[in-house]
Amino acid sequence: MIKANNNIAVMAPYASATFEVAKGKSLVSLAQNESFLPSSKRALTAGQRAAEEMVLYPDSSYQQLRSSIAKVHGLDAEKVLVSAGSMELIFALGQAYLSPSRSALSTQYSYAFFRTATALAQAEFVTVPEPDLTVSVEHLLLAVSDNTSIVFVANPANPCGTHIPKSDLVRLRAELRDDILLVIDEAYGEFADAIDEPTFDLVSGGNTVVLRTFSKAYGLAGARVGWGYFPTDVKAELQKIINPGSVATVSQAMATAAMEDQQSMERLCQETTEIRSWFTAEARALGLEVPTSLTNFVLVCFADAQTAADADKALRQEAIVLRGMAGYGLPQALRATIGTKDQMAFVIDTLRKFLGA
Ligand SMILES: Cc1ncc(COP(=O)(O)O)c(C=O)c1O
Repeated sequence: MIKANNNIAVMAPYASATFEVAKGKSLVSLAQNESFLPSSKRALTAGQRAAEEMVLYPDSSYQQLRSSIAKVHGLDAEKVLVSAGSMELIFALGQAYLSPSRSALSTQYSYAFFRTATALAQAEFVTVPEPDLTVSVEHLLLAVSDNTSIVFVANPANPCGTHIPKSDLVRLRAELRDDILLVIDEAYGEFADAIDEPTFDLVSGGNTVVLRTFSKAYGLAGARVGWGYFPTDVKAELQKIINPGSVATVSQAMATAAMEDQQSMERLCQETTEIRSWFTAEARALGLEVPTSLTNFVLVCFADAQTAADADKALRQEAIVLRGMAGYGLPQALRATIGTKDQMAFVIDTLRKFLGA
């Protein structure tokens, strides 16, 4: 029998959400941080048109998409790199800059794929505490070692939803050694853009990268398009790893049109934010702890792990699926993606009945 390399054989598969619910009810899927609103109509039209060109390979230079991104964000298109979801960029960063002798540093509840990408590079993944479920620059700086090679920070963070100000990231960068790559993952950045300055300028220092995605605020999770802003030499190394043309023609066309329709994205963020604020207040009124989120989801913390598991069961009886957080070391919590107002009201009603509140 052929066996996989040992480092792969010992790894657990990346854990996706599970959707077992009571039969006969329609599924309310709030487990994957997808948008409840569709992407821009212009993106849908562009995708339909691009479907006619599928006989050809995609443009592997992503010229149109990179120039739209650069124009909207005031960036240099030469430093923009596009990928099949930002996960592909995180994977490539691990391959390029981590190894058994070069470790990654992140926080206790950091995005799970940072750990996976690190394991795939056979590197050590070191984590530091997150007091108040929030990234702490002090803790990160204290844990830097001689072989730290990447520091991963998602801001806003998944699964906690919390945000640190740009000034913290500036300080982190200033105090990290120059040969450490700071990866700022802004998968939910558009939800926070209204309250903080962009971080793209940090890239000019040569050892910081900023990642974004079309999966969240642009409502295009199914298109699989991520992008990042990179120092030129970092981009060149990643391009050796990423499959050329990994973003399909239809996806490129949809993402380009979505980027050129900022109004639609801003409306999506605004509506999500309104429902998120309402849901947070209602959940807190039920006595649940909910950290302030700047994303399209919230972390709902119960009294203990058993209560969270029972709440999950009660929700699944109504075909509502939130994401269990035991894999993140937060067994007392469930993560709720923000859905429509009706869906979120249904979650609150179900939790109210469950808690007897
Ligand atoms: C913090 C964070 N980074 C990256 C990703 C991956 O996004 P993409 O769909 O672009 O691969 C996610 C998805 O949930 C995320 O939460």
